[in-house]
Amino acid sequence: MPFRTALTEMFALRHPIALAPMGGVAGGELAAAVSNAGGLGLIGAGGGDREWLGPQLAIAKDKARAPWGVGFLCWALELDRLKWVLDEYQPRAVVLSFGDPSPFVEAVRAAGAKVLVQVTDLDEARRAGDVGADVVIAQGGEAGGHGGGRSTLTIVPTVVDLVHPTPVLAAGGIADGRGLAAALTLGAAGALIGTRFEATHEALLAPEEAKAIVAARGDDTSRNRVFDIARQSPWPNRYTARMLRNQFFDSWQDREDELRTDTTARTDYLDAVDHGDPAALAVWAGEAVDLISSIDYAADVLTRISAEADAAFGRAAAQRVRGD
Ligand SMILES: Cc1cc2nc3c(=O)[nH]c(=O)nc-3n(C[C@H](O)[C@H](O)[C@H](O)COP(=O)(O)O)c2cc1C
Repeated sequence: MPFRTALTEMFALRHPIALAPMGGVAGGELAAAVSNAGGLGLIGAGGGDREWLGPQLAIAKDKARAPWGVGFLCWALELDRLKWVLDEYQPRAVVLSFGDPSPFVEAVRAAGAKVLVQVTDLDEARRAGDVGADVVIAQGGEAGGHGGGRSTLTIVPTVVDLVHPTPVLAAGGIADGRGLAAALTLGAAGALIGTRFEATHEALLAPEEAKAIVAARGDDTSRNRVFDIARQSPWPNRYTARMLRNQFFDSWQDREDELRTDTTARTDYLDAVDHGDPAALAVWAGEAVDLISSIDYAADVLTRISAEADAAFGRAAAQRVRGD
């Protein structure tokens, strides 16, 4: 049975699922594949680096036969970059994550696209409501990549109540139909899914990274700042990133302040990355790796999750005791 939610109605989707705009991983091929299979495909544009982004946007524009969009990091975005994307490529949806979305909302609206704001705590959720987001994405700390420390199970219904009647998507830890059914039950209009789509043929991930995701367990992930410190990333300190633990992480865990002042260790780390040393390889992924056992085509992931959610609702309903 297909789902009809505020998200599917807004973008004429078959499935209440959006691809997470994973920086450098969700490119034009993956976004187009998700949109063509009935979800909402979103390119992960980061701060909007033209050299990488231009070709990815061109692929999506060429291949997608349904609405697609693009996601930016607010702290790294400049208005001119956003306007270039809106003018040249006409995405139908723009996700604004991690930072203040207010400088960008008007430009997105003026271009006729929908504004989706991803939030990691209740203050950000309140601000998303204040700027008039069309959709608020409530992200729990189970998520892969950068984010905050809340749990999906509590942040989603709380944000649903806080921003009502604005539709909310659940993000963080959703990789199968049981997760999607749970998100809809919590009051969400759908799920924004990242880690599960990393293990697809269309994702821009090195084969060894995709294999590591399939092999890993949620227990092997950690939310930390170690890699942002090691690579002297300008990410705001309040956001941590969830990734697969590796040897470098294990040796610096709980010593973040020390790493900040150890220039030799940081230089060694960058050298190791340059040489492709697996001990230094940072694979951003969430606890949902527990639920991933194969690398698939994005369209198959989408239809399977939707069908599983339908079955999960059936099983849950069968457990209800009906009184006379
Ligand atoms: C590899 C990776 C890169 C990500 N990059 C971004 C990004 O650039 N911008 C963004 O808004 N969110 C980014 N995210 C977070 C996602 O938007 C989303 O919140 C998360 O993937 C949902 O949780 P899940 O991974 O458990 O599905 C990234 C996530 C991953 C796994």
